Amino acid sequence: MTNADFEKIVDTSDEWIITRTGIKERRIADNSITTSDMSVAACRQAMDMAGCSNDEIELLITGTVTPDYRLPSNACVVQEKMGLPNAAAFDILAACAGFLGGLSIAQSYIETGKYKKILVVGVEKLSSFTNYKDRNTCVLFGDAAGAVVLEASEESSGIISTFVKSDGRYRTLLWSEIGGSLHPHQQGVDPLGRDKIMMNGSDVFKVAVREMANAAARVIKDAGLTSSDIALFIPHQANIRIMEALAKRLHISMDRVFKNIDRYGNTSAASVPLALDEANRQGRIKPGDHIVMVAFGGGLIWGSALVKW
Ligand code: ACO
Repeated sequence: MTNADFEKIVDTSDEWIITRTGIKERRIADNSITTSDMSVAACRQAMDMAGCSNDEIELLITGTVTPDYRLPSNACVVQEKMGLPNAAAFDILAACAGFLGGLSIAQSYIETGKYKKILVVGVEKLSSFTNYKDRNTCVLFGDAAGAVVLEASEESSGIISTFVKSDGRYRTLLWSEIGGSLHPHQQGVDPLGRDKIMMNGSDVFKVAVREMANAAARVIKDAGLTSSDIALFIPHQANIRIMEALAKRLHISMDRVFKNIDRYGNTSAASVPLALDEANRQGRIKPGDHIVMVAFGGGLIWGSALVKW
């Protein structure tokens, strides 16, 4: 879906969207394609790349705010569709930080020796949850999935440090008011769009820059490194201006910040694994490189991970 497509449905312009967000187009899944379908496609590619069989997966974590059903979890649907007989499967609800939250849980399970092979998926069909009458939000979002296989290893490479933090006082900056137990869904569509994503963009922007910078600095410090040791930063693709402000705070140039927001928009929990995969396939990450992934989302919640490739 291009910016020109949005010019036809809301009062906006290609120029406004590019200048304010950096987005040119986003991918929108067909009606027949669900969040679990996209998860399965990403999991299969990750498992092929890792040379890993279905039997080996002991845990499947998906980060999503757009599961196929309210109950059961997306992870259980994916488990059934893929056939993962030896896995436990659950979702985490950490919005755009869902993938990094999942990575942090997986890291802990592997370090304690409980599981040896874990699939972590970040996935969203945000088009099912977007108010296409609200120009403040609808131009931002797209659909996507990304997955990684994590395994226990004696090698010095891998996840070095992770960090997750939240502040529920900001919960109404980015939320969906109707559809939970407090205000259950009524018949029909809410005329005010309160059953869809609602956001105070400029306030989210400020917290996002500050806390993503803190989260990135934290994992770098915990690893005993400095920002000059980091070959590539892979931030949540929410807005190009947020990424530029983040780079400024971290005193790094934009050529060490991976960007693909122009083609996908904000894909929430899928954004970081999607960017990681593209950076890897483009040869932007070399063995031995240190990379930092960092994200924030509705909650507000934010997280980061430092990986030695
Ligand atoms: N087209 C044209 N004008 C628009 C549009 C649009 N699509 N959207 C908003 N405007 C208007 C506003 O109505 C406002 O007009 P007004 O001054 O007459 O009231 C004006 O543009 C400026 O609005 P701001 O909100 O101040 O614009 P800002 O520069 O802050 O950009 C944006 C808005 C892009 C949303 C920005 O604040 C942002 O990216 N914030 C962060 C959002 C984010 O990253 N969310 C991520 C989490 S998503 C998740 O967790 C699922």
